[in-house]
Amino acid sequence: MSVQIVLGAQWGDDGKGKIVDTISENSDIVVRFNGGGNAGHTIVVDGKKEAIHICPSGIIREGVVNIVGPGVVFDLAVGSSELELAKKYGSTVLLDHSTPVVIPMHRALDAGREVAAGKIAIGTTKRGIGPAYGDFWLRRGVRLNDLTNKRLVQEALTQSGYFDELCAIAKHLGVDNCKVDLSDLNIEIDPMSLDQTVDWCMKYADSIVPNLGDTRGYVHNAIQLGSNVLFEGAQGILLDTMHGFRPYTTSSCCTAAGVSSTFGVFKFDRVIGVAKAYSTRVGSGPFPTELNNGVGERLRTQGKEFGTTTGRPRRCGWIDMHALSYACRMGGITDLIVTKLDVLSGFKNLQMCDGYANISAEKTLTGMSVASAVPQYLKVPGWSDDITKTKLFEDLPIESRAYLNEIELHTGIPVDAIGIGPERDQIIWKNR
Ligand code: GDP
Ligand code: IMO
Ligand code: MG
Repeated sequence: MSVQIVLGAQWGDDGKGKIVDTISENSDIVVRFNGGGNAGHTIVVDGKKEAIHICPSGIIREGVVNIVGPGVVFDLAVGSSELELAKKYGSTVLLDHSTPVVIPMHRALDAGREVAAGKIAIGTTKRGIGPAYGDFWLRRGVRLNDLTNKRLVQEALTQSGYFDELCAIAKHLGVDNCKVDLSDLNIEIDPMSLDQTVDWCMKYADSIVPNLGDTRGYVHNAIQLGSNVLFEGAQGILLDTMHGFRPYTTSSCCTAAGVSSTFGVFKFDRVIGVAKAYSTRVGSGPFPTELNNGVGERLRTQGKEFGTTTGRPRRCGWIDMHALSYACRMGGITDLIVTKLDVLSGFKNLQMCDGYANISAEKTLTGMSVASAVPQYLKVPGWSDDITKTKLFEDLPIESRAYLNEIELHTGIPVDAIGIGPERDQIIWKNR
C-alpha cells in the first residue's frame, strides 16, 4: 500500500504527466486534485502523444481508476472528451459530485480581465480558472451534481442574482461589445446568455452524470483497504496562489496541502516534486534566471518548450535551485525527480543559480523580493554524450551526476529518478 503525491516543483510543465503515467503502472487509483483546463500533461507512448488537461494522467492506463476531486474546476467540453479517451484506453473515471463547473462566462471574464490589466496582464491560459475559483470561494456556481436536473443548473445560475452579476461585470469589461476578442477561445455559445448556458451545461449531462460519485469517501475507503493511491497535482508550487509571486500565479493550491484540504488525507509515503533540469515559465511574472539570448533559445529548441495547452513559447533559463528549495519547503516535498536532463547534453558549460546576490538566503521568495532578484551562479561543466538510452544511474556522464548531486545538496532533498526523454521508459530510477 502507498499514498503518494506528484507535484510540479517549479512553474509548471515540469514533466508531471509523464511521471504520473510511469508511476500509475503500479497504482490502483490516480487522483487529480487541483487546477482545471489550464493544465496540459503530455504523455508519449511509442511515439504517440496524448495531452491531458482535466482528468488524471492515469486515464491512458487500462484498469486504473481515475478520480477528479472536488478541488478541480471542470470544463465540461474538455472533460467529456477526456472521458471518451479513458474509455478508449480501458480505464474508469469517477468525478466528484461537488466539483465546480467552468462555464463559458468564466472564460470570457478571464479574457476580459486580461485585456483590462493591459501591461500587467498575468498571461493566463484563458481557460476561466481565476473566475471559476473566485465563484467557488464565493460559495456559488454550478456543481457537477447539478447536471442531474436542468432545474438545479438554472437555480445555481440564478440564485441571488448570480448570473446577472456576472453579466454586469462582463459588460463593464467590454466582453459584450467586441472590446474583448473571444474568437480564439472557441466558446460555442453567447457567454452572456443564461438560457444558452443552461442548455450548454445540460448538453454534457448524459456523459458526465453516470461518472459522478463521492470521491472523498472512495479515496478514504481505498486507503483503508491498502490500495496504491497516487495524487496528481497540476501547475507548479511557484504558481500556487499563496506561495507564488502574486498576481502572477494560478488560482489553486499546488502543494501537498491541496490534497489534504480537498480529500482530508494527511499522511503520505512520498511527496514527489518534479523539476526540470533547467527552468521554464509560461505567461508573465518574475523569472530570475530567464535567458533572453541564444542560450535560452537553444533550451527552447532542444527542449521543445512550447505550451501543451496554449502552444505559447515557454520562457527558458538556467535551473534556479534557490526557487526550487523554496518550492520544496512550501510544497512538503520529500523526493525529487529531475526531468529533461537529456536536453542539457551538448552544453559545454552549465550554470546553476544557488542564490540571489541582493537578497539574503533567509528571506523567502515571496513579497517583492523576487521581482528584483539578481541570480548568482555556480558554473559547472556540461557533458556531450547522448544520454537518452542510458539505463543505469552509474552509466550517466560523471558531470551530469555531479549536476544532480548539486541539486540534492542545495535543496536537501534526494533525487530518486531522472528523465532522459519523453517516452515512458526514458527514466532512470536511482536506487532500483
Ligand atoms: P506537465 O504539465 O508537468 O505534465 O509537463 P508538460 O507535459 O506540459 O511538458 C513537459 C514536456 O516535456 C512534454 O512534452 C513531455 O513529453 C516532455 N518530457 C517529459 N519528460 C521529459 C524528459 O525527461 N526529457 C525530454 N526530452 N522530454 C520530456
Ligand atoms: P501544467 O499542469 C505552466 C500559468 C499561466 C499563467 C498563470 C495563470 O501543465 O503544469 P491560469 O490560466 O491558471 O489563470 O494562468 O499560470 N499556468 C501554467 N503554466 N503549466 C501549467 O499547467 C499552467 N497552468 C497555468 O501561463 O502564467
Ligand atoms: Mg503542462
